[in-house]
Amino acid sequence: MKKALLWIAVLATSFTACNPAGTKPSGDSKAKFIDSLLQEMSLQEKLGQLNLPTAGDITTGTAESSDIAQKIREGKVGGLFNIKSAAKIKEIQRIAVEESRLKIPLIFGMDVIHGYETTFPIPLGLSCSWDTALIRQTARIAAQEATADGIMWTFSPMVDISRDPRWGRVSEGSGEDPFLGSRVAEAMVKGYQGSDLEDKNTMLACVKHFALYGAPMAGRDYNTVDMSRLEMYNTYLPPYKAAVDAGVGSLMASFNEIDGIPASGNKWLLTDVLREEWKFKGFVVSDYTGINEMIAHGMGDLQACAALAMNAGMNMDMVGEGLLTTLEQSLSEGKVQIKDIDQSVRLILAAKYDLGLFEHPYQYCDTARSSQEIFTQENRDFARKAAGESMVLLKNDKQTLPLAKQGKIAIIGPLGDHKANMAGTWSVATKLENCVSLLEGIRLVAGEKVSVNYAQGANFTIDETLQANSTLFGREMVRKNEKELLAEALHLAKQSDIIVAALGEPSEMSGESSSRTDIRIPDAQRALLDELVKTGKPIVLVLFTGRPLDISQEQAKVPAILNAWFSGTEAGLAIADVLFGDVNPSGKLSMTFPRNVGQIPIFYSHKNTGRPISNQDGKFEKFRSNYLDERNEPLYPFGYGLSYTTFEYSPITLSSETFHAGEAVKATVKLTNTGSYSGKEVVQLYIRDLVGSITRPVKELKAFQKVELQAGESQVIEFTLTEDDFKFYGSDLKAIIEPGEFELFIGGSSSTTNKTTLSYSIQADPNN
Ligand code: BGC
Repeated sequence: MKKALLWIAVLATSFTACNPAGTKPSGDSKAKFIDSLLQEMSLQEKLGQLNLPTAGDITTGTAESSDIAQKIREGKVGGLFNIKSAAKIKEIQRIAVEESRLKIPLIFGMDVIHGYETTFPIPLGLSCSWDTALIRQTARIAAQEATADGIMWTFSPMVDISRDPRWGRVSEGSGEDPFLGSRVAEAMVKGYQGSDLEDKNTMLACVKHFALYGAPMAGRDYNTVDMSRLEMYNTYLPPYKAAVDAGVGSLMASFNEIDGIPASGNKWLLTDVLREEWKFKGFVVSDYTGINEMIAHGMGDLQACAALAMNAGMNMDMVGEGLLTTLEQSLSEGKVQIKDIDQSVRLILAAKYDLGLFEHPYQYCDTARSSQEIFTQENRDFARKAAGESMVLLKNDKQTLPLAKQGKIAIIGPLGDHKANMAGTWSVATKLENCVSLLEGIRLVAGEKVSVNYAQGANFTIDETLQANSTLFGREMVRKNEKELLAEALHLAKQSDIIVAALGEPSEMSGESSSRTDIRIPDAQRALLDELVKTGKPIVLVLFTGRPLDISQEQAKVPAILNAWFSGTEAGLAIADVLFGDVNPSGKLSMTFPRNVGQIPIFYSHKNTGRPISNQDGKFEKFRSNYLDERNEPLYPFGYGLSYTTFEYSPITLSSETFHAGEAVKATVKLTNTGSYSGKEVVQLYIRDLVGSITRPVKELKAFQKVELQAGESQVIEFTLTEDDFKFYGSDLKAIIEPGEFELFIGGSSSTTNKTTLSYSIQADPNN
């Protein structure tokens, strides 16, 4: 039976007359198509397109009778999220395209954050790979798998800069730096969206959370943000803008306020900056009940908040139904305008159009694809590789690592054999039972000559309530008798040659609503480590965490620390690859590790102040900017990470010491692998603008390259910088470059002292 789709009938003439069969109109005809459809829509149907409910617990075969089905038939739903499986989504899509009056297809969304069923490291970990091609490929694979399961819209990338590891959602972003964050943002967008959104294996990305969500006061999730516009423009906004420039199709507003107005109702943010300055062409969706939450923020009742959101530039309402239920009233009272509602509908229809949904509403519902393209060995191999690239070797005294594939290894710690805690937060499609635990991974990689045994050693924490709150959603762990656990672990430790201590946070201790005031390894595990240290056996600490932790105590006690983050489905294998040296670690921190929680916020690109300290030794200086009880520098700075080999940097050479308006400058170093393993190094270039019309940070990342060198090999690394690289937003919020002196650093971390100076002048020197 032919589906008598009304909107096709409306456009039949132009649609078929101007286009060969099977193609769709674009450009003008796309706008015409959407306008014609808009003319057919009642106000309620328009508001329906702005409505994004969560799917609830629809199971296959129950869609017809679900509560949501009736709303879909009535045209009151524009999209659904929190639902997966091609079969289920097909059932629901059928209701929309066959049983609703206008037969407009739904868009199906989901939090596909770091992979789908094949799960990659948490985003914070992935960003430590500094490998944008690899990151882009993780998003490509995620899109391939998610679209094979019916989903064509992901609420990713999350690009919120954060300098506060108390905030649990640092795990979902790319750390503290706007330059690195921007490169990751564009890589993710391109990976998800590919070159044509209409392809059946590409999906619409949604950059979030616009804006400044990563700077809540005291690191407490959903808390107030208060920030100068200069700081917004120079530090926090660039990654969102990079995603917009990369063509991201949708954007999610954040929960927090900005200049006293919640993002969901902030016209300056959603219209002046986003539409007028940045020319964003996609649609804006609220965060989960973000519009309704403006009531608690103190912006009025639901009708007032929904009108505020609409007038600010919000287009779609996640879960709260404020737009659906109040805009008719507001329209009749003149509080909102139909042109704004129409524009929102247009943007949402345009996204559906670009995804090919009008022509092929079931194109993502191919069950054959879902059985063949999800969690394939090829994808898992890539996840293993990505995990290996993301780990950061924090300490390795006396070449404790890599481990030899012989002898007796004791894996001790509550995270040593816990599949469910490997994938990390926001792994909604991960089958936790498919994750490879550390014990399994080490056994598989070590080979037969190694005896590998495991003891839990301790519960996650002494505090039962904290454990319950941090081990949700299938990550729960049975509590056991502490004394017995310890005795068993010490017995095993004493019989072994080396201890691999698998400690840290359970995976739900970071992520949404998982802020901490104490960012140390939980107490019971710290106590366990102390006992293990007393055995005198060499210890490698494999750290599981979704945030930078305060490991000052531990780093003084153990010779080797590998930060594994939460590395996804292949975690155990990837960690084992690194421990045994099959993969040489090359990850570099994208977020500073503090010495203690009191140093927070701590980040490398801070300002100098009028009273910087003058010594590098951590000695207290009265009336200078420092602490009585702790030095200023972090435990591990941004950009830091060791390798099994060593790299040496030559002094920097410049193509010229002065460059002028319109010119570029080249900076080169020779990098030599001076150790005995081949390895990868992230070569980082920073600048410091020595004098400015506003104060400038002591260092800013401006370029990086990840290169691989064989033992003994050298390579000349060249960076070309243009005026744009030296620009910043000045007092009038315009990007400017100011003449004067700059320092330029190239090295293996933000603490590099390998530097030179150059100057910029507007006029060329007539004598040259
Ligand atoms: C989170 C978003 C997420 C949304 C939908 C919210 O609570 O803040 O990041 O995309 O839920 O699951």
